[in-house]
Amino acid sequence: MAIPHEMLPPAFISRIGELMSTQPSDVATPVVSDFYDRFPYPADPLQDGPPPGYNWRWCHDSVLAVVRGGVGTQDLDQPPLRILDAGCGTGVSTDYLCHLNPGAEVLAVDISAGALDVAIERLRRSGGADQVRSLRQEQRSLLDLQEENCFNYINSVGVLHHLRDPLAGLKALGKLLAPRGLLHLFLYAEAGRWEIHRTQKALELLEAGTGSEGLKLGRALFSELPEMNRLRRSHEQRWTLDTQADANFADMYLHPQETSYDLESLMTLIHSSGLHFAGFSNPSVWNPARLLKGELLLRAKALTPSAQWALVEQLDPEISHFEFFLSAEPIRPFCWDDDERLLGASARRQPCLWGWPSTSLLGPDLEPQVLTEEAFELLSLVENNPGVKLGSLHSAENTASIARDLLQRKLLLLEGSGGDEC
Ligand SMILES: C[S@@+](CC[C@H](N)C(=O)[O-])C[C@H]1O[C@@H](n2cnc3c(N)ncnc32)[C@H](O)[C@@H]1O
Repeated sequence: MAIPHEMLPPAFISRIGELMSTQPSDVATPVVSDFYDRFPYPADPLQDGPPPGYNWRWCHDSVLAVVRGGVGTQDLDQPPLRILDAGCGTGVSTDYLCHLNPGAEVLAVDISAGALDVAIERLRRSGGADQVRSLRQEQRSLLDLQEENCFNYINSVGVLHHLRDPLAGLKALGKLLAPRGLLHLFLYAEAGRWEIHRTQKALELLEAGTGSEGLKLGRALFSELPEMNRLRRSHEQRWTLDTQADANFADMYLHPQETSYDLESLMTLIHSSGLHFAGFSNPSVWNPARLLKGELLLRAKALTPSAQWALVEQLDPEISHFEFFLSAEPIRPFCWDDDERLLGASARRQPCLWGWPSTSLLGPDLEPQVLTEEAFELLSLVENNPGVKLGSLHSAENTASIARDLLQRKLLLLEGSGGDEC
């Protein structure tokens, strides 16, 4: 008979996978897990108490507000929310996932015992487990989770590109997604890593290795190359801060197993997995208005979304990663054009706000947001009266337009009846 995880001591829980899986499903697994045992990533310091600020990509409500513009009542009928952090590393993302999704059931897995040890300690000190219904942190491959029940949200940041066969990993995660679930991925982009790849190749030719010797030689390389050398300049201008910690430097320049994508090969990967693209999680990067104006922008805006992204990829060769959502089923965003429908919905406040309650605050992307007194009043009423329909909460004539403005700014999340029909 299986022992429920909640009844096991944490140290035992973390080692379950070690005992269960003797044969890794990916031939690269031992090389990669050894590497992260040496260099647990990310190197963010441990601290007591909740992690600083927020990252809306790790808050399920905020993700729904961005991807679907609302949450379906059928989702509300099926608590608790189940979240998987696949390739959790030292637990920074798991920590936010616990603090930003109170009451959820969270499973965090990683193949590296060294990384997982740090993750367990991080969550112990931050009190992450107290926020959720259950937290399991296990040494397992994301390829070996077939017996798990499906998840509403899967986060896998910076992981699949370290598998020998990233498509196999993506398909494995896809099988774990609930029918209306979402997957958040981060994968390397070829163009913006051009100098990194050259440096990796040079260190390989110098037989620097993937341990402390490689670290020493890699750091020496950047101080000895001529000051105007392009690899050195790129490192100093873009990556010095990120790679101050040895583990982060090693992750960037010494990795034994990685793949990068361009937009075309990324879309082929997604298509081959049978999953559906549900939008970038850094959409402003893919907006041509960031780079063009006047007639050029008008021409760009006339293109299809995918042609606009291709254009941005050509115009900005510094993009070094893709971050995006995938879904098991095609996304049909909520449509709140109809006043009656909108006023008949209950609502939630965007959880990722800095400075709330106030009329002057920072939004999910830490962008300044100013609220009118009316908008502030509506958001406060929503927060203090969970489950109450907007129309009954606020009697002003312009409630619908205030709510639409908040919705458009991702400050409000509506709970729609009847699914995500548009
Ligand atoms: C670059 S780190 C990213 C860590 C974390 N997701 C983050 O972004 O903070 C990649 C992590 O993926 C883990 N990993 C690689 N292949 C894996 C697999 N097949 N299953 C689970 N974890 C894996 C590595 O051990 C490593 O900790």
